[in-house]
Amino acid sequence: MAARKVFVAGNWKMNKLVAEAVTLAEDLKPLVANVTNVDIAVCPTYTALYAVGKALAGSNIQLGGQDAYVKESGAYTGEISPRMLLDVGCSWTIIGHSERRHILGESDAFLNEKVRFALASDINVMFCIGELLEERKGGTMKDVLERQVVKGLEGLTAADLDRVVVAYEPVWAIGTGETATPDQAEEAHVFVRGLIEKIFGADAAAALRIQYGGSVKPDNAAELIARENIDGFLVGGAALKADSFADIVNACA
Ligand code: 13P
Repeated sequence: MAARKVFVAGNWKMNKLVAEAVTLAEDLKPLVANVTNVDIAVCPTYTALYAVGKALAGSNIQLGGQDAYVKESGAYTGEISPRMLLDVGCSWTIIGHSERRHILGESDAFLNEKVRFALASDINVMFCIGELLEERKGGTMKDVLERQVVKGLEGLTAADLDRVVVAYEPVWAIGTGETATPDQAEEAHVFVRGLIEKIFGADAAAALRIQYGGSVKPDNAAELIARENIDGFLVGGAALKADSFADIVNACA
């Protein structure tokens, strides 16, 4: 286990009506209430954020959005601003999830704008990166990760990185049940930390938390978190049930 404080976040994606989301939050609270050595967050869909935020008030579970646009307000139909996320109690937002990169077509340059605007708006960022299966098989995994890190974090300072977590989520492992092995995940995390060191220096690299995401489950969390450079998880499917998410958190505690 690394010296950095472990951070486990649940990405609920486009799931749960408001009442279901509140129930999940209420069920989760007591299951992780005694955990003090792991940062915990959940990222519900927008319509449930306010209600879940109220349900979690005073708990040790932080709230996050799943995306944020690059303007504070205005004529941007369908978008949501960092300020609106802060307004409902979020301290985090995900930026650059692979579903936004590959389904919604968001570019590295646009994601960089989002990261910068979110940080300028005082919300912390979970910045997601990860290669496709064909990129891994074709031997370009490291090029892809390098491009995503260099372009996505362009213009940031080492001090900005205090408010950024990087989530390594190999696309082939998301929602497939096929987890990266601890060796595969550790190799990618070491590579990413090395990139951060080159750009931002050794201190920033040593302090940066790198989450792993992709079919994390209660039964594989312990062996992954045991690796030196894996500092937590961004959990999809297993975050939709209170007991499985709590088991993952507790495996890290
Ligand atoms: P799964 O845990 O469902 O594979 O999803 C991972 C993910 O995309 C988290 O952001």
